[in-house]
Amino acid sequence: MAQLIDGKQISTAIKEELKEKVSSLKEAGREVCLAVIQVGDDKASSVYVNNKKKACEYIGIRSLSYHLPEETKEEELLSLIGKLNEDASVNGILVQLPVPAHIDEDRVIQAIAPMKDVDGFHPQSVGALSIGQPGFVSCTPAGVVALLKRSGVAIEGKECVVIGRSNIVGKPMALLLLRENGTVTVCHSKTADLKEVTKRADILVVAIGRPQMIDASYVKKGAVVIDVGIHRDENNKLCGDVDFASVEPVASMITPVPGGVGPMTIAMLMNNVVEAEGMQRV
Ligand code: GUN
Repeated sequence: MAQLIDGKQISTAIKEELKEKVSSLKEAGREVCLAVIQVGDDKASSVYVNNKKKACEYIGIRSLSYHLPEETKEEELLSLIGKLNEDASVNGILVQLPVPAHIDEDRVIQAIAPMKDVDGFHPQSVGALSIGQPGFVSCTPAGVVALLKRSGVAIEGKECVVIGRSNIVGKPMALLLLRENGTVTVCHSKTADLKEVTKRADILVVAIGRPQMIDASYVKKGAVVIDVGIHRDENNKLCGDVDFASVEPVASMITPVPGGVGPMTIAMLMNNVVEAEGMQRV
């Protein structure tokens, strides 16, 4: 039986630590502030944005909310980002993705000042991560590393396999595991023999975007399995990229869905916002 890695508990501990930090900053007259921009009414985005605002409120971070209509012009969005870049009272800027199709997502990401890029999506943030310089790290992969560390899983010297190569998860995940001295392999849809590679993993991070695809036949006995996926199955129940019932008996540790990686993403976002405030004071 695998030990469950409890992302809910670990994210709550991180949020409690941040709450104390924000409270002592407040006593010193320093307020932490995140600006959240949503364009249009994508349902999933509205849920995510709402959760981010609630987390800010819980921790004591001021959140500024900009909900723009679907037909907002790219120039208007870029101009709002420009204003927030200049506003010294705003520490972090987050534009919820996806943006509507008529807006160029890359231009939006690149418009955010790297010092305020709490999502860690700006090319400068990604570049800094790849050459070991300070900068914001994408929240989901940062959350995975925090889960591993706080669960006592050593990364150094381990065979780490990441399935998925997205800019938001797979690529920064691989860079972070490398920074922690893991031996890292990245698999993707064109990998010739996926099982042959994933069965080498001591730490297997699954971010493939296909419901319950990874069963026990992909997993080495005793591996630590981290499931980044989130889907609804045919019964409308939440599930991940990993077939939990199949993998749980062979893994040594595993994250559940829900309650694994999911809650960590927001906790790491909050951590980035508090760090942004510190960096901007220097
Ligand atoms: N859309 C889905 N995930 C994310 C995220 O982590 N940040 C932003 N800005 N948009 C998203």
